Amino acid sequence: MNDKVYILIQKLAKAHSLSLSEYIYLIENRNEEAAKRLAGLAVDVRKKIYKNAVFIRGLIEISNICKNDCLYCGIRRSNKNCDRYRLTHEEILACAEEGYLLGFRTFVLQGGEDGYFTDDILCKIIKSLKSHYPKCAITLSMGERSAKSYKKLYDAGADRYLLRHETADKNHYEKLHPPDMSFEHRMECLNELKKIGYQTGCGFMVGSPYQTSQTLAEDLKFIEVFQPDMCGIGPFIPHKDTPFKENKAGTVELTCYLLSIIRLICPSVLLPSTTALGTIHPFGRELGIQAGANVVMPNLSPSSVRKKYELYNDKICTGAESAQAIDSLKQRMSAIGYEIVTDRGDRKNI
Ligand code: 5AD
Repeated sequence: MNDKVYILIQKLAKAHSLSLSEYIYLIENRNEEAAKRLAGLAVDVRKKIYKNAVFIRGLIEISNICKNDCLYCGIRRSNKNCDRYRLTHEEILACAEEGYLLGFRTFVLQGGEDGYFTDDILCKIIKSLKSHYPKCAITLSMGERSAKSYKKLYDAGADRYLLRHETADKNHYEKLHPPDMSFEHRMECLNELKKIGYQTGCGFMVGSPYQTSQTLAEDLKFIEVFQPDMCGIGPFIPHKDTPFKENKAGTVELTCYLLSIIRLICPSVLLPSTTALGTIHPFGRELGIQAGANVVMPNLSPSSVRKKYELYNDKICTGAESAQAIDSLKQRMSAIGYEIVTDRGDRKNI
């Protein structure tokens, strides 16, 4: 590793901040040695705060119906090959019950932007989950909604909200999304969520089309300034029914490198080792944890719909990423020195 990379890594670990041009340099001049150094520091700081705990979240994919047409996404509106579904209130409760019995204490309701899920309908679901499982955290991942709507859902009991910013570069954002979506609105939503009091998560895909070290540096700067409670990053993986079907997937290597950097920017952030990372590498989940991640989100959706929530090709949904296989996940994590814990796993204040 050259001296400058070494110095930048030291600076990042100490100050939790670099300039845009320094982030670019750190990305463009990376090598195995730099990645090891970053991962070592990231794991150290994470261990100081969370010991060897890995938090689990039960992911319930409540609908793959979406009004948006994001160019990268398999459940985009114009994909006519997508077999659409929507879970009922009862089905969602049944998933949560199964998850609760398996030890999950956070439920993530994720779905496309499906107009069926009005505030009233979602509030009812949140309230019944909260009344059955008062000690559990509820995370929503339901896309862009109005400030009023976010507030209603929060007042109904939702604790956390995941809304990936997708890219912090407006130009890049416009290459990934159709003209009826706006970068400014995405950012407004994130700011609103935080203001209301949600534990808020942002994030982006690694290796998305048109991404450069400049746009990645902007993502890192955004994370540094926004200070999210959670941050979801995973490799872009092409989906055959999207305009980006011929694009290359992101790499495990760059995803892990960025996970380590994000851990050093925000030491106490809740950082998932994502399903996408597990999809492109048989030990992707483990590699993410060893780079500084501390969350995994096994799938609790009914097995009949799992294949249908296909954001990208070959998304894994059985094996250790299925909630039912929690024992196998526990074993895999303990094999690398980590322990799955089953409390709510809130972010620690440091
Ligand atoms: N590859 C990887 N991640 C994707 N997402 C959507 N499509 C893809 C894809 N093709 C991610 C987006 C979205 C999250 C739910 O899934 O970042 O915010």
